[in-house]
Amino acid sequence: MSKSFSLFILGGTGDLARKKLLPSLSRLFKKGYLQGLDKVYSLARSKREDWEKVACELDEGFGKLCHFIPFDAKDWNSYAELGKVVEKLKGQELIFFLALGPDLFGDAILNLGRLLRNFTNPRKVVIEKPFGYDLESAKRLNSLLERYFIEQEIYRIDHFLGKDTVQNIFSLRFSNLIFEGIWNNHYIDHVQIVALEKVGVGSRGVFYDRVGAIRDMLQNHMLEMLAFTAMEVPARMEEKFIRDEKVKVLKNTSIVKLIRGQYEGYGQEVGREGSKTETFVCAKLLVENFRWHGVSFYLMTGKALKEKLTQITVVFKSVPEGFTSLLDCKPKQNKIVFQTAPESKLQIAFELRPPTGRFIACPVETFMEYKFPSEFEEAYEVLLLDIVEGDQSLFIRGDEVEALWEVVEPYLDRQEEPFMYPQGIPLPEPAREFIRQEGREWLL
Ligand SMILES: NC(=O)c1ccc[n+]([C@@H]2O[C@H](COP(=O)([O-])OP(=O)(O)OC[C@H]3O[C@@H](n4cnc5c(N)ncnc54)[C@H](OP(=O)(O)O)[C@@H]3O)[C@@H](O)[C@H]2O)c1
Repeated sequence: MSKSFSLFILGGTGDLARKKLLPSLSRLFKKGYLQGLDKVYSLARSKREDWEKVACELDEGFGKLCHFIPFDAKDWNSYAELGKVVEKLKGQELIFFLALGPDLFGDAILNLGRLLRNFTNPRKVVIEKPFGYDLESAKRLNSLLERYFIEQEIYRIDHFLGKDTVQNIFSLRFSNLIFEGIWNNHYIDHVQIVALEKVGVGSRGVFYDRVGAIRDMLQNHMLEMLAFTAMEVPARMEEKFIRDEKVKVLKNTSIVKLIRGQYEGYGQEVGREGSKTETFVCAKLLVENFRWHGVSFYLMTGKALKEKLTQITVVFKSVPEGFTSLLDCKPKQNKIVFQTAPESKLQIAFELRPPTGRFIACPVETFMEYKFPSEFEEAYEVLLLDIVEGDQSLFIRGDEVEALWEVVEPYLDRQEEPFMYPQGIPLPEPAREFIRQEGREWLL
């Protein structure tokens, strides 16, 4: 029989809970994945009008398990009241999902920790990003967590890791001899990791202005994609070994060059004219180990651009020119593209003879494409299921989150003016110039 468990979503009426968590849970429930689920409690200070609608109308059966508890994360009395609910859940596993603003994580962990001392139920605590504001605050949050929970009970989320494409980097590399053998500086010229967004900061303005693109995207999603691309083969396909290898590669990673931009009209939008917060960032990183010595990793992310695009492009070296020297052409470099948006797919670009009837001819670029089929609509479905099942492979370990902050730390809170770019353009000119200076171009 499945173990019985209940889920407490702290911040359970917010955007994340309404748009991602409750719909993902209801889909998992409908598909029969949550056999042991007893109750889902949404905790917040006030019950928003549409909460019932969101929770109950997703699925009738699921809706019956959903309850609202008035709760203030800063007030100990709320935890005392929560204790009365927990008392009735004897023997159940308790999952606390912190879908609160990051300024409340400390209060919630401290008070939950104190409350749970009175109970013996197995427990898990799930923490949304951003985990900390910088290295120092991430360390503080880690040590607070460690006071009350063991690492096996802590799930630090980066929802990008729930995406099929990101997980398939791992599979492509380590389940195929033909790829792993060429995954190094002998064959790979450079790697491009981009996450471009059409949307601006929208309703997240006040929050975003305190963080910016380095904290919001580079420190987590982009560096995690780099880690999956560059990590060594884990000793075994187990969470400990996978996370060990990611930490190892991050410890060898550093930013050597970075530029920051801001879209026009941003200051007015967030109500702080003259803000220097970046909405665009473009960086060159090096991974100084034997596998990657001399290979550049270019990371670029920005808001309010023409198209949404999230992908990793692994670009191979050129073939020696002697081969085609008699022809007036140069074969293009091979590429492997892992795309998560707009589509979830893998693309391999290679050179082949054109259908000219002649043997001696300039090769042309040819593509092989594979769209990843997925059983799940949302990355959160994958991650929630992993939490229920206790698989931590796709969650960030304490030392890993600190290693991620160490990479970006020297570039946080720089006071120089960001360059400005018009909204809706494909790419800001300084970003093109950035990679042109490296003798390369963005492959988008
Ligand atoms: N939205 C997303 O798609 C997304 C994606 C990735 C990560 N995240 C992260 O997820 C977290 C939540 O984001 P969100 O967009 O859902 O924020 P949000 O829409 O502002 O929701 C915040 C939630 O916290 C509750 N809350 C605020 N103060 C509280 C307090 N003192 N005690 C108890 N509850 C309190 C709010 O309800 P009351 O005001 O009624 O208390 C609401 O339910 C953030 O850390 C964010 O960075 C969000």
